[in-house]
Amino acid sequence: MDAPDVPTLYGAVGVGLSAWGVASLAADGLAPAPWALIVGCLALVSAGLYMYATRRGKFVVWEKLLDELALRGDERILDLGCGRGAVLLTAARRIPEGRAYGSGAARTRVATTRPPPSATHRQKASPTASSSTRPT
Ligand SMILES: C[S@@+](CC[C@H](N)C(=O)[O-])C[C@H]1O[C@@H](n2cnc3c(N)ncnc32)[C@H](O)[C@@H]1O
Repeated sequence: MDAPDVPTLYGAVGVGLSAWGVASLAADGLAPAPWALIVGCLALVSAGLYMYATRRGKFVVWEKLLDELALRGDERILDLGCGRGAVLLTAARRIPEGRAYGSGAARTRVATTRPPPSATHRQKASPTASSSTRPT
């Protein structure tokens, strides 16, 4: 997950404001109740959207963009600023007979990929990551 502090912050603000809103409503509908509830609910929705985007949505978008490239499977890919290699590894799976290279600013986050030995015999197989780093 990218930046786990972001959904945590949204969630905490959402729960806090929603609780304040409910408490204000219970106390004879004090003025902050509606606004606290509305902003609290928006913060909770934002936390949910962030979680969806970082866990699933971005991968859906990347798959669509990679579909549009119509890769043959023998290309060489270079990802500059590859982070933990999430995009790089997604692309690398599509080039079983190619090579994918990634480079980023953080030393621990560099990822490179190469096809498995079987690929040199022109068998279909997914590339394997040579980095132990898992994508986000
Ligand atoms: C938005 S992230 C890219 C995430 C990555 N594509 C992925 O699949 O998760 C941008 C990345 O670019 C790297 N970066 C930014 N400026 C850079 C530079 N001048 N040289 C190398 N890497 C850089 C950052 O460290 C960061 O990991």
